[in-house]
Amino acid sequence: MTGAGLAPGKVALVTGAGSGIGRATAMLFAAEGARLVVAADIDGPAASETARLIEASGGAVEAVTMDVSEPTAARGVVDGIVDAHGSLDAAVNCAGVRGTMAPVGELAAGEWRTVMAVNLDGVFLCMQAEIGAMLAGGGGAIVNVASGAATEPHPGLSAYGASKSGVVHLTRTAAVEYAGSNIRINVVLPGRTRTPMLEDYYRLNPGAEARALDSAPMKRLGEPSELAETIVWLCSDRASYVAGAALLVDGASHAGRSR
Ligand SMILES: NC(=O)c1ccc[n+]([C@@H]2O[C@H](COP(=O)([O-])OP(=O)(O)OC[C@H]3O[C@@H](n4cnc5c(N)ncnc54)[C@H](O)[C@@H]3O)[C@@H](O)[C@H]2O)c1
Repeated sequence: MTGAGLAPGKVALVTGAGSGIGRATAMLFAAEGARLVVAADIDGPAASETARLIEASGGAVEAVTMDVSEPTAARGVVDGIVDAHGSLDAAVNCAGVRGTMAPVGELAAGEWRTVMAVNLDGVFLCMQAEIGAMLAGGGGAIVNVASGAATEPHPGLSAYGASKSGVVHLTRTAAVEYAGSNIRINVVLPGRTRTPMLEDYYRLNPGAEARALDSAPMKRLGEPSELAETIVWLCSDRASYVAGAALLVDGASHAGRSR
């Protein structure tokens, strides 16, 4: 599977690849000609299932069990990729958690820390390892996955929104720092996308799905594959002048709102 598509011959790492947007992204990298996809997730069996799906379609994949919030995990995985395969060309930092919903005054400090550790520290730690490998290899592309929640407050989701706002700022800063070193870094802000994370939220909040569909300009949710298309394109050579972008992929859900 080389020579054609958006990712010919590339070695790509995707975190959170065991489910939802991360799984769809890992599968699309393979379909677009990646030489190797490394599907990383804290849920090892879920990462293995993604690998099984990719192998069934003829792609080359390795499943890795990895907690992005663990300080040395990303470094170990990235070093292993470079040692075994020579380079890391594309990295997608997609792993994330929503956390417990509560108003700020009632949110347990431990809950705040957990969300920050995965969503913000995790992206920082992964980027540090990825940038190191890409500098050594002469370049690459990184896409971080934030959220439309970074653009406006959602009651009960302060830690999630703050972590995702942090990811946007972290991405833009790193993009400026490394654009001159042939590393393009961008962030995608998904709107409501039909994944286990969102379906779990709708299960816990009766009526929320109907309200969301009613207010959505397209009257539907996004599909993981629609996010994957954007992410894999951003990692591709066809997006060669796109760096430091914060791209909403939300069917116009946030376009009409005041900032
Ligand atoms: N689904 C949506 O509507 C939506 C909207 C905006 C942003 N997002 C973001 O998109 C990303 C993917 O979300 P999704 O909807 O596909 O969710 P999901 O729950 O389906 O998938 C998230 C994956 O991340 C993994 N993960 C969680 N903690 C981890 C850790 N510490 N280390 C490694 N892996 C870990 C989970 O095991 C899971 O496989 C997340 O960052 C999420 O915040 C999703």
